[in-house]
Amino acid sequence: KEEFGDLVAALPRKEQFLDGRFYQGFWLPEHYTPGVIAFQRRFTPRPDDMVLVSYPKCGTTWLKALAFAVMTRAAYPAGDHPLLRLNPHDCIPFVEDVFTDGHEAKLDRLPSPRLINTHTPYPLLPEGVTGGGCKVVYICRDPKDMVVSLYHFLRRLQPDLSFADMFDSVTDGTVPYGPMWDHVLGYWHASLAHPDRVFFLKYEDLLQDAGEHVRALAEFMGRPFSPAEEAAGAVASVVELCSFDKMKDLEANKRGTAGTYKSMPRDAFFRKGVAGDWVSHMSPEMAARLDDIFRDKFGGTGLTIP
Ligand code: A3P
Repeated sequence: KEEFGDLVAALPRKEQFLDGRFYQGFWLPEHYTPGVIAFQRRFTPRPDDMVLVSYPKCGTTWLKALAFAVMTRAAYPAGDHPLLRLNPHDCIPFVEDVFTDGHEAKLDRLPSPRLINTHTPYPLLPEGVTGGGCKVVYICRDPKDMVVSLYHFLRRLQPDLSFADMFDSVTDGTVPYGPMWDHVLGYWHASLAHPDRVFFLKYEDLLQDAGEHVRALAEFMGRPFSPAEEAAGAVASVVELCSFDKMKDLEANKRGTAGTYKSMPRDAFFRKGVAGDWVSHMSPEMAARLDDIFRDKFGGTGLTIP
């Protein structure tokens, strides 16, 4: 924070929920801006690192659980997996916290293969990562459901937050880590250019057929399910271990705080876990406005919103 204090202080600022600083085309939460800059400048990936990235509220927790479960599925006896005791955010470090708190040595101490997580936009990733030094998995979600999820999440920090203000900041791009369309498109284009090292997932696709996407994820991670594992139902076990109902019900996810976003209560990461909840928060006009913006931004890229 001290090292990049002057640089951050000179950046354009917007006062809002999680005050924003405009850095290299994106509105970063002010609190995390020094951490993103330190990550960008100092992180050197190991070849077998896996960087898990999301736009906030698009399925970070689920992706972290799934990737962790895939990676460690053979390491624990049945019924004794860490995800039965721990929140996924306690299993995989959040880069912004690590670098903002000056705890980079923690990453150095992690055994390989490392799983790390960030909301950093693609153009701001360390050169070692974009240059092909490790693999990246990205998850996105219908922007309408993201807005609703973010609203409920941030209300934990700011109970008087207005949905209309939140919505407006998504549409004008000043939302934390926004503009969301540029965040998503950065990873979309990277996944088209480098399918061997950037894997692109959609929350809604996972909801529809988690097994199919877990298989593909495992393949991408270099940990494909063997025929023996398939026969033993290992894919279904991973899906079940990471399912919303299972995770929400765990004691570990009902109590205490996870070290992300100013230590949010762990239960804040498990709300409804469905697609389409936007209908209960948004007028048809608002939904159409958001859809129009994203359709326009995604036009010609091959990327569609649900
Ligand atoms: P809702 O608020 O719509 O319920 P993130 O993890 O990026 O913060 O996103 C949180 C969203 O993912 C929340 O959405 C949360 O309920 C949902 N979620 C968390 N764990 C999930 C899981 N295992 N399966 C499906 N959705 C999950």
